[in-house]
Amino acid sequence: MGAGKTTVARELGLPAVDSDDLVEASSGKPIPEIFGEEGEVAFRALEEQAIVLALGGGAVTSAGVRDALGDTLTVWLDVDVDTCWERVRDSGRPLAQDEAEFRRLFEERRRLYAEVADVVARDVHDVVLAVAGVHVERGAVKRLGELVPGDGAVALVSDPQVAGIHGMDAQLALGTRLAETHELPPGEEAKTLAAADRLWQELRLDRSGTIVALGGGCTTDAAGFVAATYLRGVEWTPVPTSLVAQVDAAIGGKTAIDLPQGKNLVGAFHWPARTVVDPALLETLPEQQRLEGMAEVVKAGLLAGESFWELPDDELVRRSIAFKAAICLRDPDERGERTLLNLGHTFAHALEAAAGYEGLTHGRAVALGLLAALRLSGRDTGVVEEVLRPEPARVDRERAWEAMKRDKKARGGVPRLVLLGADGPEAGVELPEAEIRRELDRLIA
Ligand SMILES: NC(=O)c1ccc[n+]([C@@H]2O[C@H](COP(=O)([O-])OP(=O)(O)OC[C@H]3O[C@@H](n4cnc5c(N)ncnc54)[C@H](O)[C@@H]3O)[C@@H](O)[C@H]2O)c1
Repeated sequence: MGAGKTTVARELGLPAVDSDDLVEASSGKPIPEIFGEEGEVAFRALEEQAIVLALGGGAVTSAGVRDALGDTLTVWLDVDVDTCWERVRDSGRPLAQDEAEFRRLFEERRRLYAEVADVVARDVHDVVLAVAGVHVERGAVKRLGELVPGDGAVALVSDPQVAGIHGMDAQLALGTRLAETHELPPGEEAKTLAAADRLWQELRLDRSGTIVALGGGCTTDAAGFVAATYLRGVEWTPVPTSLVAQVDAAIGGKTAIDLPQGKNLVGAFHWPARTVVDPALLETLPEQQRLEGMAEVVKAGLLAGESFWELPDDELVRRSIAFKAAICLRDPDERGERTLLNLGHTFAHALEAAAGYEGLTHGRAVALGLLAALRLSGRDTGVVEEVLRPEPARVDRERAWEAMKRDKKARGGVPRLVLLGADGPEAGVELPEAEIRRELDRLIA
């Protein structure tokens, strides 16, 4: 501080990029405010975050620039030449005056782009996936050996059903890197202290190893938590196989196990080294499980204002993930925007609690919760009814209302909701108690 860095830049006649300015621009807050409200640790985390450097199209023709890119994640936005020309033809840019010359440059530079790029992206969603470390590719499971980062030993963790269907493909693809295989119990049983304890004790990896979690959200949550804690944390790569896990559980770095007192009460934020998503794995998923995941796809689409649910599988998965990943990158610790992902979930959690977590699946509860959120937002509920076909829950009304008032985000016993406003989604919306209760009652048989 005060050493004269800005003066040096001025002396050299070079523009100075001050990281304080970048932090202020990305957080939208002055630095004293960040220190005052969130503390120094939060400020340092912002400081560490990547910046996006938009390199001029010809920058990589210089060997010095290519070298300087070094370890920086370099993404090639590979847009076709016709689209690029349409976008710049009237821009007055010096190298976009003549179409033939523009096309020649484009072809000439492609080779260099391919050389420097770590990732080739078609659009902004691909770039978000690259920055979040999510690789989406049909057939990716057959290339796991290359796609799991690093070259250390791998411990493959799965559940019995998924291991039976897809385990052999994963094992073959991991080849000589595969050092151990483990099975977690099916379903929520995987997310118990006993299951985590068994896995901790069975693992033989050292700190250079990677845990690969092949399975639904229960497997990725539990194996991710074990990865966060084993040897004070080892790398992990989820390979989500259910729709819930592909679009939700394996995205965003949250891992957890359950306690008898409630779900996900012990966990850690532990961002994977890479997440490998193979939409082809969904072909063996039972229809009921698919519907569970569609509840999250519909939720993401409603928040994004786009009909993700109408897209073919590969695109539906890619867009839903990119939507969630972008929010999680902007708010990794759930201090702000990430709470929007709770659309419909306050009602859902209350219904699940009232059902004693039996007989009402999370996806069905979310579908009902979305109905209530849409009604309270004054929106049409058609999409939820058509795509998710929710049926009223058979639970006790009083129990559901009591659970809703105990929600983490409730203030003075009145739940605060995520709703869709005229200018987009809004969190922390307070409504009269009677109105919320009326909508909760409508969800119950
Ligand atoms: N960490 C997070 O941010 C987050 C977000 C959402 C949900 N979750 C957690 O995810 C869990 C639910 O995930 P889930 O619904 O995937 O449950 P799950 O892991 O139990 O999988 C559901 C069922 O589908 C089977 N299955 C999975 N993939 C298959 C495939 N390709 N072919 C055939 N069968 C397949 C599984 O064996 C299992 O029987 C919950 O514990 C929830 O708390 C976590």
